[in-house]
Amino acid sequence: MSARLRLGVNIDHVATVRNARGGAAPDPVRAALLAARAGADGITAHLREDRRHITDDDIARLSADLSIPLNLEMAATGEMLAIALRHRPHAACIVPEKRAERTTEGGLDAAGQFDHLAPMVRELGAAGVRVSLFIEPDARQIEAAVRLAAPVVELHTGRYAELAGEARTAELRRLTDAAALAAKNGIEVHAGHGLTYDNVIPVAAIPQVRELNIGHFLIGEAIFVGLAESVRRMRELMDAAR
Ligand code: PXP
Repeated sequence: MSARLRLGVNIDHVATVRNARGGAAPDPVRAALLAARAGADGITAHLREDRRHITDDDIARLSADLSIPLNLEMAATGEMLAIALRHRPHAACIVPEKRAERTTEGGLDAAGQFDHLAPMVRELGAAGVRVSLFIEPDARQIEAAVRLAAPVVELHTGRYAELAGEARTAELRRLTDAAALAAKNGIEVHAGHGLTYDNVIPVAAIPQVRELNIGHFLIGEAIFVGLAESVRRMRELMDAAR
């Protein structure tokens, strides 16, 4: 048995549906409060540069209303740094962001962007925000996270989720090795992207992983079974994996 695995529920796509009509419903803050009651340990929201789903007002309301930790996903820009420093969420996960992408494609190049990231990681840390770097399961990126003194890395499971058969097994091994390397260096390990009921168990079983961040699948499944039930079922699978 390894330590209980936390579930961070990403509510971005409740806002995607709301924004399709431009009104106030469905409200991502209501979804966040419901997810918390259903067993989420934290809420994740990505304030994108183009505000395509989560808005500044959502972040303000989440900061005010949540009684569980908020993990703000953000690009490494001056604008986002200022917002994070204003709200001081429990955690900030720095992600790469491209305007044209549909979702976060690939991990942050923590090694290549070292000089750009270093002051940002320092400032957020000094403000009491737990910084996480969303990276590929790659030794070079973990070594950069160590040098940046990031307390947390989130390993990108998108490639694992897309692959099948032996290729998936090989990617799972990369995730397992990366989790072990990060933990050996004192970094807390999270993972996420593309996780579903069908693929979550092997990732949840990696002993060093302490938190999974899951969004799109849970919100989609909520259409059929309700958000409380989709969160509850995911929790059950994660607990079974430990
Ligand atoms: N973690 C990070 C850093 C992400 O950018 C995302 C997607 O916004 C997720 C986790 C959740 O991915 P998904 O929506 O595919 O579950």
